[in-house]
This record gives sequence, structure tokens and C-alpha cells, in this order.
Amino acid sequence: MEQIVVTGANKGIGLELTRQYHARGDAVLAVCRTASPELAELGVEVLEGIDVTDAKAIAVLASKLDDRSIDLLVNNAGLRTIESFEDMDIDRIRYQFEVNALAPLAITHAFSDKLKDAAKVALISSRVGSLADNGRGGEYGYRISKAAINMAGVNLAIDLKPRNIGVFLLHPGFVKTNLTGNEGMTTADKSAAQLIALTDKLTLADTGGFFHANGERLPW
Ligand SMILES: NC(=O)c1ccc[n+]([C@@H]2O[C@H](COP(=O)([O-])OP(=O)(O)OC[C@H]3O[C@@H](n4cnc5c(N)ncnc54)[C@H](OP(=O)(O)O)[C@@H]3O)[C@@H](O)[C@H]2O)c1
Repeated sequence: MEQIVVTGANKGIGLELTRQYHARGDAVLAVCRTASPELAELGVEVLEGIDVTDAKAIAVLASKLDDRSIDLLVNNAGLRTIESFEDMDIDRIRYQFEVNALAPLAITHAFSDKLKDAAKVALISSRVGSLADNGRGGEYGYRISKAAINMAGVNLAIDLKPRNIGVFLLHPGFVKTNLTGNEGMTTADKSAAQLIALTDKLTLADTGGFFHANGERLPW
């Protein structure tokens, strides 16, 4: 049984990750701002009131884990608002940067002493943050913030490797959730199943890698 922390666990991919890890017998701490009925009925341990952009909330989360060792931290909470050249909203871009890039960095840093030997950190990124894959432009805040978490993840991989901790940047696919207005090529339960299988397989040899949930390496 692994000790797992999932952020953004109340809906979408985070809810499905929580459901599937719980179903296979892992102990999940499901972190969210407000629990949904679907999360509440899973019977996992839920920590509500955690806005990932709030340093005090991150301290509460870290103190909750005081006596525990974590096998897997999944930084899943994320936000996508759509800016374009014509609709450039710097405040929205800044906020996505806080949620998608700074918060997972802050949480991973705050938790680092709770991570076991051979623990893993999954940073749910997006191929929309790939510079090489950007053929369409737009989505300024989402692209910038996901590119930034990719860089933060590579740095964390370097810093945590001596402690035998792997850090992985994972793209879940194009998934029908609130974040995409329920558009997508796959569902949250299928994406979560792929993410779990991939995370199980990844080793320290893969640390700092950027992967599609189907296991393919993605270009930076
Ligand atoms: N869906 C896709 O196609 C897709 C593709 C690539 C990457 N991703 C990534 O996958 C992750 C999960 O997204 P999803 O598709 O499952 O979207 P979702 O259904 O909209 O879920 C997003 C989750 O993030 C949480 N969150 C957002 N801002 C937060 C904040 N300030 N503090 C705490 N929690 C916050 C939300 O909580 P609230 O309910 O409280 O807002 C929710 O639990 C995100 O990192 C996203 O960027 C998704």
C-alpha cells in the first residue's frame, strides 16, 4: 500500500486518480478546495480548504503530513483560461502561472522532507506547454505556465535525484473535463488509468522526462 497525495482531487483527472489509487488499495490523501459529492463518497481521507496558491494552506498541508512518509505526490491541480493576442489579460496569465507553475513547485518543495527514499513526484503538465509543439499560438497563460512547470520539473529532478526521488512531467492527453469544456479525445477515467500505469513504470532513469500518458516522450 502506497501513501499518495493528489491535489485537485475533487473533480476531473484528480478525482479519477484518487478513485483508482484508492480502489487498488493505496492510501490517498485527497487535497482540494471543496470536496465534491463524488469525492466524499469514495471514503478516502480528504483535506479541504487548500487553495494551492495560498502559502498558508500549503503549510497546513505540510503539517498534516508531519508524521508520514509519502511514496507519490501528484501535483494535478490546474487552471486553463484562454487568452489570445486580441484578448490579452495579464492578470489572468499571472494567475495561471501561480496555479500551474509556482504552486506545484512550492508544494513539492514544502513536502520534500516527507518524500520517502525512491518516492515519485508527478507534475501534471500539458503538451500545450511544449515550445516545439506550438503550431497555433494563443492560450498565453496556459502555455507559459505549463512551459514553466516543465522547467521547474527538470530542476526538481536534478535536485532530488541524489535522494533517489524521480520527478516526471506528465501530459494526460486531451481529456473531457471541466478544463476543456468537456471536449476531448478521451475520458478522465481512461486518462487516469494510463497515468497510473505510466507512473508505476517510470524509474529514476526517466527522471526529468516529459511524457504523454500513453508513455511516448514529448518534445520540449
Ligand atoms: N483535460 C485536459 O485535456 C488536460 C490536458 C492537459 C493537461 N491537463 C492538466 O490536468 C490537470 C487536471 O485538469 P482537469 O482536466 O482534470 O481539469 P478540471 O476538471 O478543471 O480540474 C482542475 C482541478 O484543479 C483544481 N484547482 C484549480 N485551481 C486551484 C487552486 N487555486 N487551488 C486548488 N485547486 C485548484 C480544481 O479545483 P476547483 O474545483 O476547486 O476549481 C480541480 O480540482 C491540470 O493540471 C490540467 O492543466 C488537462
